[in-house]
Amino acid sequence: MRVIVCDSHEEIARLGADMIEEIMKSKKDAVLGLATGSTPVNMYSELIRRYEAGELDFSCVRSVNLDEYYPIAPDNDQSYRYFMNKNLFDHVNIDKANTYVPDGLCEDTDAFCASYEAKIAELGGIDIQVLGIGGNGHIAFNEPAEALEPLTHLTDLTPETIAANSRFFESEADVPRRALTMGMGSILNARKILLLATGAAKADAIATLCAGKLTTSCPASLLNLHDDVTVICDRAAAAGLQA
Ligand code: PGA
Repeated sequence: MRVIVCDSHEEIARLGADMIEEIMKSKKDAVLGLATGSTPVNMYSELIRRYEAGELDFSCVRSVNLDEYYPIAPDNDQSYRYFMNKNLFDHVNIDKANTYVPDGLCEDTDAFCASYEAKIAELGGIDIQVLGIGGNGHIAFNEPAEALEPLTHLTDLTPETIAANSRFFESEADVPRRALTMGMGSILNARKILLLATGAAKADAIATLCAGKLTTSCPASLLNLHDDVTVICDRAAAAGLQA
């Protein structure tokens, strides 16, 4: 695992965008695994800036998102589909038909989850998966638990995650209680993983991840099974790492 500690959020955005740019330059129809949350927003803005400067072309790019609340409509301003449109897709020349976010309105969730895995396979797998990390070590909506799911599934949000995400809603009661999420295996199948983390609230989770052991009480620690993981974080998130 490569760990890069940055002095500014701009530097995190730039280095993250460099990794995505490198893949897009080597493969026009790259499959980008994307994440929501506050952490990757600056990196998406940097990708938009590079697109506007004529440095990046998204016309053949495909994308697959990690997760979506359930149930939620795509035009709800708290949905992850809405987030991706607003923070990236609406500002670059990606064909929205080539962007996949779990369907927060699907009726048969088991069938949908199986079809999402089939879609990832049909796209040829994910070239680079962008990840944030929860303060409790969750990855996407894979929350700490005795057992973790390997593939895309419907899951309950933990009280901690409901509380953390309530900042985006009018009240905690408005936060959906369930979500559709890729599983740990779906994530580990990506060819490359880029995890971004900022702020002191992530320090314990980053320390557990970087300790190199596997524990389902910190789902991110399973990334130690992957041989191409880059963690880019700020000094606050790196505070628990040995110098
Ligand atoms: P954040 O969320 O980027 O908003 O901190 C990350 C996560 O919970 O996975």
